[in-house]
Amino acid sequence: MAIPERFIEEVIARNDIVEVVSEYVHLTKRSGANQFGLCPFHSEKTPSFSVTPDKQIYHCFGCGKGGNVIGFIMEIENLSFRDAVEFLARRAHMEMPEDGEDRQIRDHRARIFELNRQAARWFYENLSKPGGAAAVEYIRKRALTKKTVIGFGLGAAPDDWYALTNEMRSRGYSDAELIEAGLAKKGRNGGVYDVFRNRLVFPVIDVRGNVVAFSGRILSDDGGPKYLNTPDTPVYSKSRNLFALNLAKRSKRDMFILAEGNVDVVMLHQAGFDCAVASLGTALTAEQARLMKNYKEKVVIAYDSDGAGMKAAQRAIGILEPAGLQVRVLRMEGAKDPDEFIKARGPDAFQALLDRSANHVEYRILAAKAKYDMDTDDGRLGFLREAVELLAENPNRVERELYTARVASMVGVTKDAAGIEVEKAVKKRAFSEKRQRDRQTMRLDANLQPRDRKSRYDNLASARAEEGVIRLLLADPELTRFTDGLTSAEFSAPFLGRLYDKIIRKAENHETISPAIIAAGLEPGEAAQFTEFLREPEELSTARQALSNYIDKIRESGMEKKTDQDLAALFERKKQKMGHGG
Ligand code: UTP
Ligand code: MN
Repeated sequence: MAIPERFIEEVIARNDIVEVVSEYVHLTKRSGANQFGLCPFHSEKTPSFSVTPDKQIYHCFGCGKGGNVIGFIMEIENLSFRDAVEFLARRAHMEMPEDGEDRQIRDHRARIFELNRQAARWFYENLSKPGGAAAVEYIRKRALTKKTVIGFGLGAAPDDWYALTNEMRSRGYSDAELIEAGLAKKGRNGGVYDVFRNRLVFPVIDVRGNVVAFSGRILSDDGGPKYLNTPDTPVYSKSRNLFALNLAKRSKRDMFILAEGNVDVVMLHQAGFDCAVASLGTALTAEQARLMKNYKEKVVIAYDSDGAGMKAAQRAIGILEPAGLQVRVLRMEGAKDPDEFIKARGPDAFQALLDRSANHVEYRILAAKAKYDMDTDDGRLGFLREAVELLAENPNRVERELYTARVASMVGVTKDAAGIEVEKAVKKRAFSEKRQRDRQTMRLDANLQPRDRKSRYDNLASARAEEGVIRLLLADPELTRFTDGLTSAEFSAPFLGRLYDKIIRKAENHETISPAIIAAGLEPGEAAQFTEFLREPEELSTARQALSNYIDKIRESGMEKKTDQDLAALFERKKQKMGHGG
């Protein structure tokens, strides 16, 4: 059910945007109405992220994001609208309103959480029963200690089609609930059977400590997929969770180690690297990257050292960096993954790897080198070209020179010759970046189309006037009395029409009108567009005249499409208005 609008407005009112944003961004006061800081949503060196206290909104001139305090929390905490409202409500010590349906959903989720918790416990208890003997043997073979087993809550699914299902039925859970939790499936004959059978079970626990899912590894490598993972359920989204994040977020280390396999993560923790996590049965997602960024600034990728792992690492860099994380990549020579490396060489050797883990420029250089035949001139030249581009991306001059020297020696040219090419590429990049920035500024200045392509305006002239109406009404809500019967049906842009309706409705009900309140419920793209057009100045001393001009503009633009008869009506009305107004 929707949260009552009143409550949302109260949440906005009780969470001052400057205070909330300041918990994430260092804001400095500048002249004028805005405060500025480094944008938390894209990486930048000069502040272009602004907060406007009197409008209670934020807007980034760099990446174009914008909105009210709820939108800010959705974006930065990676939360849904509802969760962001709840987050801010809690911050302001407000009780969330609850209607019947709400409570039902919550109770339902609570039952699945409890079912998962009981299942995890049952899997664990099987380790000391005959049905768990095979898993215990497997644990021994993989050299996992008792402490590790307890710490991760590992367990055994017995080789039985109905053991868990029958047990949980006897505890009062329905077949529907077991299926919904992803613990059981319906067979062709209508019977219900266990999903996890004859497997070592890894519970997945979210950052709040709820058991949300399971991952089960096969015990003998014959038949069936190596891992089975819980699909998305009412309490679990695999793209929004990371295995072992519940433990790793508490680590004193200032980074996460991102591994590919569950066993790698468990082994890393056992060896003292308690900051290891993995995505479960999926490629890394942007949501997982943001989740990590909530806790730490650095990620060291420790994927498998085979071709697939290298490729996955390249992809992961492209997801982690845009989330603002500093990325390094570990190179394990002579072992296929962290588990194998630690078993063969021990924790100290792994620590040494961490200490000198290549930053990703070096990693990408090595990956590029692997693509070329370095025994031919063509191959070396191709590699040099690619390496020069990579080197040019590094803003740190000292590092750049260091790696340039290495590349030069790989290719067999002098350090100076390679250096000249790199510096040329740096200048070229700086030039094209500046040109891009200039274009962007021009775009902003020239009042062209809004950034969000989805919401391009059909009728730009009218839409600009519609924006003007909204800007004026928000600047001075008294003006709602002078809209000359304008209705949202006359608007060319539906999104602006909705904003207008909301303002008028609030005015009629004598309710508070403010940009932050009007922004509530907008899609992120719309919110950004909204905060962008609000920035344009309006002269309040002549506001009534400006409003009237905007309204005329809207009506004229609308008329262009209509019949002569309508046009005549417009002139008539205009004439009357001139007569009255003098
Ligand atoms: P790996 O095969 O590298 O698993 O797959 P691992 O954990 O290192 O296992 P060991 O060391 O070989 O025993 C990496 C991850 O990919 C997912 C799992 O999350 C696994 O941990 N995966 C793999 C699946 O989801 N399904 C599969 O069939 C295989
Ligand atoms: Mn592996």
